Amino acid sequence: MSTDPTPAPDPRLATRLAGLSLRTPILTASGTCGYGPEYAAVLDYRRLGAFTTKSVTLHERPGNEPQRVVETRGGLLNAIGLANVGLQRFLSEKVPFIRTMPCPVLVNVAGHRREDYVEVCAALDAEPCIAGIELNVSCPNVADGLMFGTDPRRLREVVAAVRGVLRRAVLVVKLSPNVTDIAEMARAAVEGGAQALSLINTYVGLSIDAATWRPRLANVTGGLSGPAIKPLALYNVHRAYREVAKAAGVPIIGMGGVQSTTDAVEFLLAGASAVAVGTGLFIDPSLPVKIAEGLAGYLAARGLSNVAELTGRLEVSPPAVACR
Ligand SMILES: Cc1cc2nc3c(=O)[nH]c(=O)nc-3n(C[C@H](O)[C@H](O)[C@H](O)COP(=O)(O)O)c2cc1C
Repeated sequence: MSTDPTPAPDPRLATRLAGLSLRTPILTASGTCGYGPEYAAVLDYRRLGAFTTKSVTLHERPGNEPQRVVETRGGLLNAIGLANVGLQRFLSEKVPFIRTMPCPVLVNVAGHRREDYVEVCAALDAEPCIAGIELNVSCPNVADGLMFGTDPRRLREVVAAVRGVLRRAVLVVKLSPNVTDIAEMARAAVEGGAQALSLINTYVGLSIDAATWRPRLANVTGGLSGPAIKPLALYNVHRAYREVAKAAGVPIIGMGGVQSTTDAVEFLLAGASAVAVGTGLFIDPSLPVKIAEGLAGYLAARGLSNVAELTGRLEVSPPAVACR
């Protein structure tokens, strides 16, 4: 990590998200930056809104067979399969570094059974260095990954069960776009007790090699991320905000193809209170800092005193329901 003096925070960028104080509204997205140490030399965590870890599950997972990642036009298709160290190793090997991180850390949690989510989240809640939990109910790359994220009743139940054991950590629920009605899922998560929503996870996709007649990923299908999904992500954020989150007072972390300040502004206008960068980190790991700097300039140029003034300011006429 950098030893330069910590730069003064820009009051225009400072924001609050479900009780968390963020220096900027720009976060990293789960699964694209490891557990913290991996990016420490290339991303200044003192200038980051918050860091989100790779998904952690109760038991260690090797993930899917290679090939696990393939580039597509405007996007990235991945089928990592939730490869991770599991709860116990996370606590003993990863948490010590997280204790030293100068920004809030959200730990992304995935599971197979409701009890798994509850056990992992209760253990993480006991670690004061973990500011929040991002519940991944939306992974498309494991056999039962979407089980909770596509069924509103099960989603509400798992969120309520986790919320019931949290004493301290903020609960963010990460939604899948692989559903017919994102508003229904957002509503279920909020009813279950989500304090913030994050969306979107990746879209299920397929890449085929015409030379071999085989899928390019060993898992056959993968999750599509990057600029290719940005308009779809904006649509989902817009609907979740207009139909659920705004009235409920639940903030949204928007993501999906964010690679520039303009992209981030679009997500804020659509209804996000914060924005996460995932695939873009593979091109430039310092992108969250650059986007935040650009955002400060954008706000100053428009005479806005705080980034919160952009949230949900998309002007829609006639009203939002017409966009379905
Ligand atoms: C290689 C890769 C691994 C990912 N792993 C996870 C994960 O473990 N848990 C999770 O909730 N999302 C995971 N995601 C999804 C991202 O956090 C994010 O929701 C999605 O990629 C959209 O953002 P982007 O277009 O900026 O990447 C992963 C994405 C990529 C590209």
